[in-house]
Amino acid sequence: MKELITVAGLEKSFYMPAGEVKVLKGIDAAFGEGEVVSIVGASGAGKSTFLHVLGTLDKPTQGKITYRIKDNQKGDCPGFTDAVVERGLSPCVIDPFSLSNGEIAVFRNSVIGFIFQFHYLLPEFTAIENVMMPGMIAVSSQQSAVSHKEIYEKAGKLLDELGLYARKDHKPGELSGGEQQRVAVARALFLEPKVVFADEPTGNLDKATGEELFRLLMEINSKHGTTFIIVTHNEHLSKRCHRIMEMVDGKLR
Ligand SMILES: Nc1ncnc2c1ncn2[C@@H]1O[C@H](COP(=O)(O)OP(=O)(O)OP(=O)(O)O)[C@@H](O)[C@H]1O
Ligand SMILES: [Mg+2]
Repeated sequence: MKELITVAGLEKSFYMPAGEVKVLKGIDAAFGEGEVVSIVGASGAGKSTFLHVLGTLDKPTQGKITYRIKDNQKGDCPGFTDAVVERGLSPCVIDPFSLSNGEIAVFRNSVIGFIFQFHYLLPEFTAIENVMMPGMIAVSSQQSAVSHKEIYEKAGKLLDELGLYARKDHKPGELSGGEQQRVAVARALFLEPKVVFADEPTGNLDKATGEELFRLLMEINSKHGTTFIIVTHNEHLSKRCHRIMEMVDGKLR
């Protein structure tokens, strides 16, 4: 399996008035293209912190993360590549923390999707508008130049794939918890990310609804080859992933 993400010597500390809090204490890991990996571990072990750093939402204190996005062909890489190439860097083997903050944002938007325990949908917007949001942002930041109609149609197709087309004009408050989470999944998938980081995606759902959401994630993985890294406290679901990793005291094994 081709490696998508390599992590080497990753450390993360938080600096509090009372002193340094070491959370990640030297993580070496690799995640393959199309792999579904679950990360388990006790509360406070550092799972969310790891996902945040891996997903470029937070910076590491030490260590390196490398994304291998495609073969080394410029056309196949995301929209931030021109600036990267100008600096003599490979457009497809990316250390996101070597990029400027603006470039990291573009990188994140085009390569990564997030699903959290709470859906964080925008309450004033309908389901389909929420799903369209990453597409609208990509257009406004000149990452892509597709029309509003195309964005609308793609969002509709995704909602259909997740069994939600009939709810497309509902606002989040007019959807069930499971439906809200499926809208959040559709939104995470809108820009066809290479990898989706999911932090307890079923943590707020009842057993059957959680199972159904998990089944959808696995279906998306086999259909589109999307890599999933899923933090979960649900042993039954973690066992259905391709691989289980455990976070113990800031180390992954
Ligand atoms: N922004 C922060 N500032 C300071 N300390 C933090 C911050 N974020 C997390 N921590 C600390 O880092 C440790 C790991 O937190 P993290 O949220 O990664 O744990 P977790 O494994 O996801 O736990 P849970 O299963 O409860 O979600 C905790 O002790 C927490 O207090
Ligand atoms: Mg957590």
